[in-house]
Amino acid sequence: MRVAVIGAGYVGLVSGACFAEMGHEVVCLDKDPARVASLLGGRVPIYEPGLDEMVRANVQVGRLSFSTDLAPAVRDAEVVLIAVGTPARHSDGRADLSYVYGAAREIAEAVAGYTVIVTKSTVPVGTGDAIERIIRRHRPEARVAVVSNPEFLREGAAIGDFMEPDRVVVGTEDSRARAVMAELYRPLAERGAPVLMTGRRTSELIKYTANAFLAMKITFINEIADLCESVHADIADVADGVGLDSRIGARFLQAGPGYGGSCFPKDTLALLRTAQDYGVSLRLVEDTVSVNDARKRAMARKVIEALGGSVEGLTVAVLGLTFKPDTDDMREAPSLSLIDALQRGGARIHAHDPAGMEQARQHLEDVAFFADPYRCAAGADAVVLMTEWQALCSLDLALLREAMAGVVFVDLRNAYPEEQLLRHGFFVSGIGSAPKRPRPQVVAADGPAMIDRSATHFGMPPS
Ligand code: UDX
Repeated sequence: MRVAVIGAGYVGLVSGACFAEMGHEVVCLDKDPARVASLLGGRVPIYEPGLDEMVRANVQVGRLSFSTDLAPAVRDAEVVLIAVGTPARHSDGRADLSYVYGAAREIAEAVAGYTVIVTKSTVPVGTGDAIERIIRRHRPEARVAVVSNPEFLREGAAIGDFMEPDRVVVGTEDSRARAVMAELYRPLAERGAPVLMTGRRTSELIKYTANAFLAMKITFINEIADLCESVHADIADVADGVGLDSRIGARFLQAGPGYGGSCFPKDTLALLRTAQDYGVSLRLVEDTVSVNDARKRAMARKVIEALGGSVEGLTVAVLGLTFKPDTDDMREAPSLSLIDALQRGGARIHAHDPAGMEQARQHLEDVAFFADPYRCAAGADAVVLMTEWQALCSLDLALLREAMAGVVFVDLRNAYPEEQLLRHGFFVSGIGSAPKRPRPQVVAADGPAMIDRSATHFGMPPS
């Protein structure tokens, strides 16, 4: 099928490349000539594992191209995807739909023949109706169907999420459009992906409901992690113990410093605004948002307590800055709240991230950045593991400990077995377990080091 994708941003590029990979003929459109030129030259301006190769391979075989010229691409397309940004407006947290409506006007002017217009961007309930009104106003004679088809892509895993989705959701009341969408997704359906056909408003709400539920699931396990710290229970085992119940499911039960990113914070707020508009209160979603905000700030207190109550004049090395691994995205990253709070407390900040330092520089001031994690830790009183990048979860702990001035290791992702950190002489503060002092090692006369478990203390930092 011939597909035009409007917006060569994250969602547009991943969708465009994947539809081309599925065998469709795809043109990705973007207003930015520099971006289009760079893509035509095989340079993908975002960091997403596997995307570079997929773009290059499909450009080479002629299934994927890029252009700034919207009209001819839309005119020739059977399916037009709207994949432009819907950032949260600073004023009220609502999704800013001006790019979506702008795209709708341009599509209206260009369409010829029956065309299915698909919203891939995450848009509030009722946006499909508004797009349809815009198109009908501009071109009353245009034969179009407006379909909702939300994406469920995780950054860092987007290609896999697209090509092997848990489900594809298609929302439209138009039976011809349903048939076109079934054809578009046939390669995935043939490989077993469930395709849920439903109404347009229902489909729009499914996206927000999924994200709000996941945000709530993470926030719930984070609260239980706090309780674990007080009652001396183990959060990893609690999560396993409840996650093995198939009604609950094991995924998204990893306690941490709070969720960030471009989707959960924005989509939970937008859902609350929609509910407000219809006079409905979503108290669980409201609490999820405020509990998560408070949690991100509370992470600094963990570091301060581990350092004996003050960070004034101390150096804290933050390892991992992006909101999660395998992305350079710093939006709503918990590291930003942590660093801000530590700086307010008088700490000097060293920071390292495998991919996000360039982005991080735009958000952070007075931070010393290091390309190497061990240099970052050199002379630090505490190390905080903020993002679970694979490279940061397999550090040489002896080398790290040696480089540091202090012994505090705050593991906000529980990436290292506590036992291992204690053995290397760290004072350990993780998520969902009480802080612990290093274990003095007793060397047996003719045997390996033995661990003196009685020396473990709860709650107090090393003197
Ligand atoms: C999310 C949704 O997963 C995706 O379906 C949607 O389309 C866009 O939003 P993304 O924001 O890329 O994707 O990242 P995700 O992997 O979902 O993580 C979001 C945040 O939750 C991160 O800050 C992550 O660290 C946190 N998280 C995730 C946890 O703290 N614990 C978990 O168990 C899972």
